[in-house]
Amino acid sequence: MRRTLSASLLSAALLLSPPSAVLAETVTLPAPDTTGGLPLMQALAQRKTIRNLSKEPLDQATLGSLLWAAWGQNRPDGRRTAPSARNRQALKLYVNKADGLWLYDAAGHRLERIAAKPLGDPLDDAAVVLIFAVPEDDPYGGMHIGSVYQNVGLFCASAGLGNVVKASTARDASRFAFLPDGWRALATQSVGKPR
Ligand SMILES: Cc1cc2nc3c(=O)[nH]c(=O)nc-3n(C[C@H](O)[C@H](O)[C@H](O)COP(=O)(O)O)c2cc1C
Repeated sequence: MRRTLSASLLSAALLLSPPSAVLAETVTLPAPDTTGGLPLMQALAQRKTIRNLSKEPLDQATLGSLLWAAWGQNRPDGRRTAPSARNRQALKLYVNKADGLWLYDAAGHRLERIAAKPLGDPLDDAAVVLIFAVPEDDPYGGMHIGSVYQNVGLFCASAGLGNVVKASTARDASRFAFLPDGWRALATQSVGKPR
């Protein structure tokens, strides 16, 4: 009887849940390689914008290290690779790639699916396009994005990848209709092997 009741409650919960909850898909990323890479001064010496990027997908290990470098947790208390005002961590990092649109969950070091298909032109000029979203009324939002894109730029220099930050891609807010109310994208960053 108890099992029947539990099964009924589960069925009811599934019926009442929004479709996104039922269909939620997550992909756990490989742990970042925190021992490799170029020495910091060499990475700084090589950081630069590269606009001509391949769409060849990045392997999961590289993607895991890239996202961790960008905005991952680097301490047991949940603080991140980039600083944030009062440690509010008010930045959402979305990942647009051939297999869809994803949100990076730093606590789980995993991707949560937002959409089955990627956003198209002009956000399809590279293997991965990072989308940086911040609260509309946060005076520190641009600073937080800058910290994260510099982390990415240094990781790319270290890993032999190209990258370009673009604010022009964020001019059309309708492109980012998937964002929660009160959030806006200020910039994107395309990442891929240099062509
Ligand atoms: C906030 C910001 C916005 C940018 N927007 C664009 C853009 O919309 N399109 C583009 O091609 N490059 C964009 N860039 C890249 C800059 O043009 C590039 O960083 C600059 O020319 C300096 O080159 P470097 O990164 O190699 O030092 C942007 C860079 C930043 C920091």
